[in-house]
Parts: sequence; structure tokens; C-alpha cells
Amino acid sequence: MLGIFDSGFGGLTVLKELAKKLPNYNFTYLGDNARAPYGGRSFESIYSYTLEAVRYLFSLGCPLVILACNTASAKALRTIQQKDLPVMAPGNRVLGIIRPMAEEAGSFTQTGHVGILGTEGTIASQSYLIEIAKFWPSLHVKQESCPMLVPLVEKGLIEHSATEIFISEYTQKILAKDPYIDSLILACTHYPLLQNIFEKVLPKNVKIVSQAGIIAQKTQEYLSNHPEIDCRISKNSAKNGEIRFLTTDSADFFEKGANVFWKEPIKAEKVFLYSSNDYSHAN
Ligand code: DGL
Repeated sequence: MLGIFDSGFGGLTVLKELAKKLPNYNFTYLGDNARAPYGGRSFESIYSYTLEAVRYLFSLGCPLVILACNTASAKALRTIQQKDLPVMAPGNRVLGIIRPMAEEAGSFTQTGHVGILGTEGTIASQSYLIEIAKFWPSLHVKQESCPMLVPLVEKGLIEHSATEIFISEYTQKILAKDPYIDSLILACTHYPLLQNIFEKVLPKNVKIVSQAGIIAQKTQEYLSNHPEIDCRISKNSAKNGEIRFLTTDSADFFEKGANVFWKEPIKAEKVFLYSSNDYSHAN
């Protein structure tokens, strides 16, 4: 079973592409809806919440957890990989979604100028700038945080006029920083739901790059390069292609809110993660 984590509903955009690409795999999705959005939270909070989620997914038997959340990938991934994983579960793996995007960042642009839009946490971490520079040192990269977009999407206000106003403002700001930008990476798993509005407000020469398809492709490559993890994911699975949805909020809240992301009716289960004071119990 493959574990997929997001602060809320956004990771469902990634899960959808993963399930298409890997139809014979079982997935467990965990949304920390009770504490979403993460975007404006401190490093300590994002790290401790993400660690709780990873621990929980490990306890269910997921040897690989994908943080399908840029904010968690930016703020928590490195510490979990370097500090927690070797103690907690050395054979297990936690992957984020920033590095795979950075690997591809230069392949979309003709001008060599790329823009990154994300949450405050993702942008403040500079993770995209740092990772992209490793693969594409001559690329010009500008970024802009879009603090209102996740709350608007989580509240189901995609069609609201306020959403378009904010998207216009954020895109104008980033294009003012660099008018040569011709590809804009939507570095938040919630933003694909706003793709139509981005397309409406952006000049035609600016291409929008969404993450989900790229992450699904990279995950497939990772699994074929890591048979030792791949065979553990498939082990003990009675059935293939099963998707389980877990949330820290009520099942009802998740089932209704997921509607706009998933389109088909789903059954969710509420789970309780360790409170941040309880780490020692799990060590
Ligand atoms: N979907 C998350 C991301 O990709 C952000 C959500 C949040 O702010 O909680 O960054």
C-alpha cells in the first residue's frame, strides 16, 4: 500500500493521477483537514503535523509515503528523511513533490524564465529556488506566494469572483517581477482546480505547469528503480486498485469537501493522529 499525505484535499489531485498511472496499486490517502491549511503555519507545526501523519501511514503498513503537499515537502521532508526516518523506520521511504518538479523545471520554458506560485510556507522556504538551481543553474526563477488561494479552494469558492481577483493580483505581481516568464509552475496541489481561472487571466504566451501528472510519472520511475520498496508496497495486498481515504476531520466533512476534487462519491474514515506532545510514545 502506498501512503499519500496532504494537509487537506489538495493531494487528491496527485492521487488521481497516481491511481491512473498505477492502477494495480493500493493507496491510502490521509488529509489532515482538521489542521489545514498549513500554508501560513510555522516550521515547527508543519514538521510535527507531517511527522505524525507519516508515522500513522507507516503504522498502517505503507513502506512509502508521498508528501503530496508542497508546503509539507518544503518544511518537513528534509528533517523527516534525515533525522526521523533512520530511527523510526530505516527501511521505509518518504518522498516529496518539489524535487521531481525541479528536475523538470527547465524543460517547459523557451525563454529560460520560470515562475513559481505557492503557499507562504513553500515560497518562504525557497525550496524551489534551491532545488531548481541544482538541476538548471542558468534558469531565471521568480516566485510569489498566494496566501488566499488554498482557503478559497478548501471552502469550495472556486467559482467566486474573489478567487479570480486574487489570481489576477498574484499573476500580475509575478509577471511584474519578470515579464519574460513563459511558464508558471503551480507549486501547490490545490491550484490545479483553479487552472481555468489561471488560463483566463494569464497572457496566452504563459504556459501553466501542473504537478500531478509529473509526480505520477516520477513515482512510477522511482518504483521501477527501487524494486525493494516496490515489492513491499504490493505485499499483503488482497486486492489491487483499492483507495482508502482517511481524514483528521469528520468523515462527513471529507466526503462532501472531496467532491470538487474527486468527482465520484467516496467513503472516508476519521482517524486520530498523535498529538504533538505524544511523540515520545511512538519512538
Ligand atoms: N496543498 C498544499 C501544497 O501543495 C498546501 C495546502 C496548505 O496550505 O495547507 O502546498
